[in-house]
Order: sequence, then structure tokens, then C-alpha cells
Amino acid sequence: MPTPLVPPDQPPGISPLPAAEVRRRFLAFFAARGHTVVPSASLVPAGDQTLLFTNSGMVQFKEVFTGAEKRSYTRAVDVQRCLRVAGKHNDFEEVGRSPRHHTFFEMMGNWSFGDYFKREAIHWAWEFLTVEMGIPGERLAATTYTDDEVAWAIWRDEIGLPPERMARWGNVEAGDDKNFWRMAEAGPCGPCSEIHYDRGAHLSEGPECVPDHSETCPRWTEIWNLVFMEFDQLPDGPRVALPFSSVDTGLGLERLATVLQGVLSNYDTDLFTPIHATLRRLLGHDPEVFEAERFSYQVIADHSRAMTFLIADGVLPANEGRGYVLRRIIRRAVRHGRLLGRREPFLVETAATVIEVMGEAYPLLRDERERILAAIAREEVQFARTLDAGTAQLEEALIPLTDAERVVGRRPEDVAPDAPVLAGAFAFRLHDTYGFPIDLTIELAAEHGVRVDRAGFEVALGEQRERSRGGRKAELARHAQLTAQYDEILRRAGATTFVGYESTSAECRVLAILRDGTAYDELTGSGEAEVILDRTPFYAEGGGQVGDTGELREAGGGSPLLAVEETFRPAGTLVVHRGRLHGRLRVGETVSAEVDPGRRARTMRNHTGTHLLHRALRNVAGSGARQAGSLGSPDYQIGRAH
Ligand code: SER
Repeated sequence: MPTPLVPPDQPPGISPLPAAEVRRRFLAFFAARGHTVVPSASLVPAGDQTLLFTNSGMVQFKEVFTGAEKRSYTRAVDVQRCLRVAGKHNDFEEVGRSPRHHTFFEMMGNWSFGDYFKREAIHWAWEFLTVEMGIPGERLAATTYTDDEVAWAIWRDEIGLPPERMARWGNVEAGDDKNFWRMAEAGPCGPCSEIHYDRGAHLSEGPECVPDHSETCPRWTEIWNLVFMEFDQLPDGPRVALPFSSVDTGLGLERLATVLQGVLSNYDTDLFTPIHATLRRLLGHDPEVFEAERFSYQVIADHSRAMTFLIADGVLPANEGRGYVLRRIIRRAVRHGRLLGRREPFLVETAATVIEVMGEAYPLLRDERERILAAIAREEVQFARTLDAGTAQLEEALIPLTDAERVVGRRPEDVAPDAPVLAGAFAFRLHDTYGFPIDLTIELAAEHGVRVDRAGFEVALGEQRERSRGGRKAELARHAQLTAQYDEILRRAGATTFVGYESTSAECRVLAILRDGTAYDELTGSGEAEVILDRTPFYAEGGGQVGDTGELREAGGGSPLLAVEETFRPAGTLVVHRGRLHGRLRVGETVSAEVDPGRRARTMRNHTGTHLLHRALRNVAGSGARQAGSLGSPDYQIGRAH
């Protein structure tokens, strides 16, 4: 959907703040009201099997709500990085089409764990928006859960909202979840109260444009959700009362920045415009072309942020699980680059801009810069090799199926139910041979007005998995056991600190020793072992890429204890050193961790600075493009496709 170009009717008094300043002021506002500032957790939830990614601020506090975990504070404030690409909250399809939905976004939140409840949550939200941010109160509307008389009365009698700017929604018993928030099918949940911003009646799309059309109507935007946590939804069971009532609020940084900066789309805030600028520079596009191509620009900007943060948090492109979500994100972005006419790699540049924009708020991005850019470069080049050939194959199949006009950005759900259907087996072949994720095939088919037999695709995929499953069963069981162990260590001991930028050796403490999925306090003799340290100079990779090798020795560089053959990150920022033991290793003792300097130097040569990386990329991309051409994509088809 193109973003309307009508400027919003920006009220006077509103503070046109940069996003970085909004983050800072939010934290300071609640810190001044007794809240402890808590850092954002990783996008990969530690030890939570119910979620693929952190999809909201409450993920890291889930066990605090249930009373299972105690913290030293009962009030907290944070800015949490979130990803909504899977499960109950999934905005992948909306990206690019909607001016306010993202896969990756930041949620600012204030939290009460059995401390304050509805009154303070509502009053502080109101004060922050109207006093601290200068938003006129008459631009705000509030909704409550249908039978939440307490919240309703606070808004009406204490805040003084007029009835025409209030609404009650939701009826959980009748299956209407509106204004009742839950992170996943199970877990802490409760009624909520949303705050919506009114951009002005001139943006109304018809008489129906009231706050409850906030998701689609440009006049209203939901900016803040105040959740009053009262219940725990048991898996396949009843909803029971939590031991104490809590507050979870989520204020979308991108949406608030949009309001404050007086723009209509999140993509026009200072969180995104530098990414567009980088891409426009690469493509030589002027502002008019940018407007005409917003859909692809927005997909690329959104996905550049998501991929950068995912890799920073230890995910690498892979064929399963989290790594596959990342792969889908990168591949969709590569394809949108092609739609814009870009044949050379570009995602390293847009990701570098993301790191520039976000690096101050998230120093992890700066620390991991080289690793992030190298992983993106690898995946981009790999997919670019098959993208043209796969696209040509797909179009060859699609074009005879339909006379429909091609519309870039047509939603798959807008394709007529009786439209022609592309066979699932064909979609599977594209997946298998050319690495086309199914959603990319569906997106491309929808552009041509064709549906994809998704069920047929799943059958073909299932058959292939079944074939390769047999011999892997035992391996998978071992892997699951190990993952649970790693999660437990991560929860108990926290992340491994990487100290390898300063030096290739360091004195470190042994946190855990594992062999065949069993944790030992002490291991003696020879054989394989996995060791986790509190800090490490070893640079870890994942997803099949080998990290540093070297030695663990007795403290001070004494006798060898473990010949490190592999370094990897199985969970979040936990680093595991796997290798052969010689002698005795004990949990709690200090060891010297020494990276093989020769190998590190070779790795470094490949990672030294963006300049070299870019040049290398251009070389690789050149050969990749020629190879794609030689696979026989006739020019006219490519011309038609792009
Ligand atoms: N959990 C709520 C949400 O994500 C408020 O933080 O909307």
C-alpha cells in the first residue's frame, strides 16, 4: 500500500525528537520514578522452548510474572529489541505494504512486578506522552478491555478523557482477544488498555475510521499498550490467577518517532531514512523513484535491521529453525534488490548503515560488526547465484498459467480463490534446487495473480525430510539434550564475554564441562569435551562455520588441557569450546585460553575492514552473476521479471 503523501496535521507543542533521544527520555522518565533500567535481552529467548524469537518486552520477564523468578527490583524500564516473524505474532507479510509493521522493532516498556497497577500505569503513560513528549491530550484516545471498569474509570474520571475518545473491546470467552494480551498460546496474560494517536480527521478513510481501525486507517495509530497481567494461561488447560498482579507496557519506538517527527510512515523516521539513503546512493535513485519503489525499499530497510540484529544475537543462515527464518529474510531482501535493478550485493552496505544508526544504543552491533557483515555477504552471494535462474524457471511456469497483469506487492491473500494454481511439487523443486523459500515463491506467484499449492509443497518437503530423517534420529536426540544443557548454563551463568578483539589469549574461568550431553565438575584423561568459560578470546561461529581453534592450558600458559578444535555458539551469546582433553579440567579453575594465531590471522585477513570486504564481494558477485547467466535465463525473461 503506498503511503499517503498528505502531511499529517502536526499539532504545535509536540517535540520533534530523534529516536535516540526518545529512547533516552523514556528510560530517564521511568528511572526517575523508581524503575531499574534493564538492558534489552537477546532476540533469541534464553531457555524458552515456547518461542522462536523475543516477540515482545515481556519475554525476559515471563518467569518474574509467574513468581518463579525473583529479581532485586519490582519496577523496571527497558527498550527491548523484538522480532515478529513466527508464531502468534507474525508481521512478515505486512512488511513493505504497511507503513507501521515490521519484523524487527523496538519496544519501550515500564514494568511492575507485584508493585503498582492500573492507576500508576495509566497516569505515567499519560504524563510521559502529554508532558514529556508534548503530545496534546486531545490527540489521544484510549481503549480498555470490555469489562475492565477500573481502567475505564481511571481514564474517564482521573485523566478526564471524553467518552467519544474512549472505547471498550474484547470478549475472551467468546474468542475475541482484542484488548486481552498474550505473548503466546500459553503463559502470563491479561486485559490491556491501548493508547491511540489521532493524526487528524483529514486522513480518515471513510466514516468507519475510528480507533479500532487503527491497523488499517492512516488517521489513527496505536502507540502504547498497557497490559495488566493477572492470569497465567496453562498449556491446554485453564487460565489461572497469577500470584500477584503486574504491569507490562509496550510503547513502539518507531510509531512514537513517527508521531513526534511529523511523518506518516515509520519508514520516514530517522531510524530508517539513513538506510533508504544508502540504497538510493547505490542505485542512483532520486526521491521520485524512491516513492514509486517504496514497497521494495521498505522491505529491504526492515529486513536489513532484522538480519543485522539476528546475526548479532548469534543466529546464522541455516535450513532449519531460527537460521531458516534469517535465511528467508535475507533472501527476500536480495530479491527486492533485484526488483530495484540491483545486481551486485548491497546488503552489506545497508546492514553497515543499520550498525551506524543503532550502534550507540546497541554496542553489541559494533562489537560484532565484522561477523555480521561477513555472514550477510556469504548468504547474499550464495543466493544471488541461483536467484536469476530460479526466477526465470518460476516465470516460465507462471506466465502460461495466467493473463493477469503483474502487480508487484499484490498480497497473496488478494489473489482470487479461483485463480490458477502452481503445483506444490514445482514450488518444492525451486526450494530444493534454487534455494527459494516457499514464501518467496508465493510472493512472486501472487504478483502474477497465481496461487501456490502450499499443501502439495508441504507434502513434497515432508517426503524429503522423511528420507533424510532415518539416520539422523540419534543425532537429533543428542542435539536436543545438549541444547537443553546449554540453555541451562546460559540461564545460570549468563553470556560468555568475547575478549578476542584485544588479544588472542586470556585467563578465563571454567563455568561448565560437558561430554556427550552430561555436565561434569571435573574430567580427567583424554577424549572429547566441551568447555564453557566466563570470557574467551575464541571467535565463535555457528551454522556449520568453524570458529577459532587453539588450546586451553593451565593458568599462566602451563601444560595443555584441551586442544580446541571447534568454537561455536549454541544458544544466545554462549560460546562452547569443543576439543580433545589432555589431563584434568575442573569447573571453577582458571585456565589460559590461547587462540591459534596463524589461523586467526588468516581469518582476520578475510575480515579486515569494509574496504577489503567490499572489494572481495564485488569479485565474488561478478563470477556469481556470470554463472547465473550461463544457467540460461534468456534476457527477455529477466527484463520482464525485474
Ligand atoms: N506485551 C504487550 C505488547 O507486546 C505490551 O508490552 O504489546
